[in-house]
Amino acid sequence: MKPDVKAVLEAGPRSAVHRTRVGVVGSGYVGLTTGVCLAWLGHDVVCADIDVDRVETLRAGRVPFVEAGLAEMLTVVAGVGRIRFEVGAAAAAEASDIVFIAVPTPQDDDGSADLAYVRAAARQIAPVLKSGAIVVNKSTVPVGSARDVAGVIAREDIVVVSNPEFLREGNAVVDFLSPDRVVVGADDRGAAERVLALYHGIETETLITDPVSSETIKYAANGFLAMKISFVNAVAAMCEAVGADVADVVRGVGLDHRIGSAFLNPGPGWGGSCFPKDSRALVKIAEDHGYDFSMMRGVIEVNDQQRRRMVHKVRSALGRSDSHDLSGVRVGVLGLTFKAGTDDLRESPSVAMIDSLRQLGAEIRAHDPTVSNPLDDVRARVLGGISIAATAIEAAADADVVVIATEWPEYRELDLDAMAAAMVGSAIVDTRNLLDPETVRSHGLSYDGVGRR
Ligand code: UDX
Repeated sequence: MKPDVKAVLEAGPRSAVHRTRVGVVGSGYVGLTTGVCLAWLGHDVVCADIDVDRVETLRAGRVPFVEAGLAEMLTVVAGVGRIRFEVGAAAAAEASDIVFIAVPTPQDDDGSADLAYVRAAARQIAPVLKSGAIVVNKSTVPVGSARDVAGVIAREDIVVVSNPEFLREGNAVVDFLSPDRVVVGADDRGAAERVLALYHGIETETLITDPVSSETIKYAANGFLAMKISFVNAVAAMCEAVGADVADVVRGVGLDHRIGSAFLNPGPGWGGSCFPKDSRALVKIAEDHGYDFSMMRGVIEVNDQQRRRMVHKVRSALGRSDSHDLSGVRVGVLGLTFKAGTDDLRESPSVAMIDSLRQLGAEIRAHDPTVSNPLDDVRARVLGGISIAATAIEAAADADVVVIATEWPEYRELDLDAMAAAMVGSAIVDTRNLLDPETVRSHGLSYDGVGRR
């Protein structure tokens, strides 16, 4: 069992046996979590970013995104001088023994991960790295990237290793400090051991392998997890067709220890910054090496299908299965982020569903605990054209149908009387199976979930 973040904070920061000077290039979700957690373990960390505003925000002790526990930990480690923030990659590298590259690897048009930022970071740190320093690829990078980065750095005295992250947004701190495993891929055993030593004090399985295998582990792990969710979503569709109940089916299947029940919650399809990008990259990497990973293509296809199925559910709930015209229809959407516990809208199934419904002419009013007016520029680009409500009930006001799109705990406790009174229609589509169907129906509302009898 992993501890919760409260227990991590209560236990307090540790002191490192092998105190190391660490640089982290890129202070986003992965880089900042890595930097703060390594400082928490007792190392001396310099985090860098090219975004001057972000660096200022971090220097002021604020975390620019939602991640449980991270801000509190930052306050502690910054307070004891174990972490500082600098603009530009070179500052993170100059005095460091180990330098993590944790910059974005956005998706290219052909599905592959774009290495441009990783290579740019490598070019900037190359001239200032101390002799004997180790460079660590933490970003999820295409197979072969450790060698690619070593080629960019082009110094005999520098080793490049792979050390993939397995951090869930919203649980990143706990996943970093209590991981299921730490994987290091290196051609040089000594370098791998020096990187592993950073994690000293964490009780977990460790695996040293070559860089290519390490990079493949990351893609295969995320591919497998995406496959589990697509599988259960396909089973949920089956359940609807044959009249079975997915919760009972998952329980009955998951009790087999070879299968287990973790990560088998049906929903509106997987999203976020990793699964969509990594699954497509996995197909592309395999293709580039002459293998057609047809199973992974199927996993992606089921996910696309699942998103379309959610839109179909909304149309059915409105009695418009045969119509593609939803003009004049008002949809209240509860939840915008790709899952609960994060403010991340990237590849959110909720946003995809909203786009489809708007294309059909529907009007959307949405609520999310992490989204409020006025929207910043990034959010306005994603959410422009929909109205943002301050509460779930306000999002339901005058709605013909209400869709629960993200599993925020507060939506389990909805005031269904107030909801029914606020709506003009009476349909609830629960894409996360949060509510009890009978309770919803007892309030005069109709209910449709995912794979439920
Ligand atoms: C994921 C991996 O879990 C992490 O190890 C990796 O390094 C980064 O990608 P994250 O993207 O934060 O983490 O989200 P995760 O909690 O894994 O969920 C991914 C998506 O799957 C979400 O859209 C979520 O709603 C969905 N999901 C997850 C389900 O629909 N059902 C489930 O049972 C689990």
